[in-house]
Amino acid sequence: VNQANGVKGLADLNLPIFPHQYIQPIQARLDSCKIIPHDSEEQSIPIIDFTNWDDPDVQDSIFSAATNLGFFQIVNHGIPINVLDDLKASVHKFFELPVEEKKSVKENSPPEVVRLATSFSPHAESVLEWKDYLQLVYTSEEKIHAYWPVVCKNQALEYMKYADAFIRKLLKVLLKKLNVKELDKEREYALMGAMILGFNYYPACPEPELVSGVGPHSDISSITVLLQDDIGGLYVRGKDGDSWINVPPVNGALVINIGDVLQIMSNGRYKSIEHRVVVDGNKTRISMPIFVNPAPDAVIGTLPEVLENGEEPHYKQVVFSDYFNYFFSKAHDGKKTIEFAK
Ligand code: SIN
Ligand code: FE2
Repeated sequence: VNQANGVKGLADLNLPIFPHQYIQPIQARLDSCKIIPHDSEEQSIPIIDFTNWDDPDVQDSIFSAATNLGFFQIVNHGIPINVLDDLKASVHKFFELPVEEKKSVKENSPPEVVRLATSFSPHAESVLEWKDYLQLVYTSEEKIHAYWPVVCKNQALEYMKYADAFIRKLLKVLLKKLNVKELDKEREYALMGAMILGFNYYPACPEPELVSGVGPHSDISSITVLLQDDIGGLYVRGKDGDSWINVPPVNGALVINIGDVLQIMSNGRYKSIEHRVVVDGNKTRISMPIFVNPAPDAVIGTLPEVLENGEEPHYKQVVFSDYFNYFFSKAHDGKKTIEFAK
């Protein structure tokens, strides 16, 4: 298989025989009888209106979602709908560029600013994931202007400026519920010292049941803020450990999930829950996560405010870059990354 143009290039070939590199063993496929129906109340992802984010009731519902499934959707987050729509359109434009142009993005941008890749950790995977992705590191304006691809630069930057303001508010709420009064510089460094905007591209697949868009994993971020299009395909592991809950596309909403860093900092109060992506048989799906990550050299550990009552920390301290490198050194493997902090 020639991977110069990723899964998209492969899908565009319309091969007569489906490539075996992408065929998951049966136990790694999502069995449709394990999907929880949408009308299940306690096993669904709440939708929270962020208009009055200072209101204690709103903050309570965020706290309750973060401690329960660790996943929720936010509407009225303050990012204009046209900013979201422009971003989505620019993602399609980027992946539809001629292969030579994508190659030149790959060759001419330093990996600490722009990464274009396929699957997740191809060197460590026995079966590849049906996904291509671009990652734009939210770094200095100078580097952004020099290296982010022209077709999506302005749209991505505009989105990130709005998202940054929203993320600060959301982190303030999550911290307040852990007895942390403010998002000071030190906390900012440890929670959102590095942010990455991802563009995920899941081409329509002729054999959607056989492949995995993304295998079960938990995120290593403090939080992830995801914009998905209207195709759907994101599933979260249910409370019983054996079922999967769909995160339905809601127009204008952002999907938020707690990552391992906040699970560690909150000593397990906030849950970093496994999730996965199923691809569509007819339509290409895109999603745009913001990985709200600690700065690489930030030391991650349980917050002293959480341990004030004499509670023992369940995790040991880790340098975030070590945790990050460990995550990418292996294939997606459920909740196993967090063992690194035990
Ligand atoms: C991921 O969790 O890695 C991707 C989520 C999505 O595409 O919906
Ligand atoms: Fe994820």
